[in-house]
Amino acid sequence: MSLPRIDVLFSEPVIARRVEKLAKEIAAMTMPRLLVIPVLKGSFIFAADLIRSMHRAGVEPEIDFLMLASYHEDTRSSGRIDVLRDIATDVSDRGVLLIDDILESGRTLHFAKELMARRGARQVKTAVLLDKPHRRAQDLEADFVGFKCPDCFVVGYGMDMAHRYRELPFIGVIKDPAD
Ligand code: IMP
Ligand code: MG
Repeated sequence: MSLPRIDVLFSEPVIARRVEKLAKEIAAMTMPRLLVIPVLKGSFIFAADLIRSMHRAGVEPEIDFLMLASYHEDTRSSGRIDVLRDIATDVSDRGVLLIDDILESGRTLHFAKELMARRGARQVKTAVLLDKPHRRAQDLEADFVGFKCPDCFVVGYGMDMAHRYRELPFIGVIKDPAD
């Protein structure tokens, strides 16, 4: 089996500049007792950078983690969402910012938004690193978007393909070895 080639789609400095801007946009919005919730696992590096940039922009959030599964070993959505690890924080009457890596079909974020709303969050906003608008199944747009992403499978900066490549510091596209 030949190794796939990974082309850089968004480089480290390009990501860093965008994340800093995004944090300023988020800081400009006032939310009651802000709770930031990264949706694991794919958002962990983005969230770590974004939250530190938000700190530089003067935001003092609480942070909890939600782990959802919508994908299996392949690169297609299964359609079903499972809560693998729930938050331990009461969201009632609070402002919640959900952070995810990619918005594609919208099923994951729709599920997470509904969950927070059902639990009584006063306001639920969403920040995603990448928007892949080509396969939307839910009528949902993120409030804050890092980059528009072409309709291809990306890895790195926290995002995986079958549990690999999360450690790459850039966002890359896997090239078919046959190409
Ligand atoms: P949605 O529920 O279809 O919006 O799925 C979004 C989730 O699918 C993201 O949080 C990712 O975990 C995963 N995903 C979608 N596209 C990609 C990709 O190109 N690379 C890695 N993960 C992806
Ligand atoms: Mg994800």
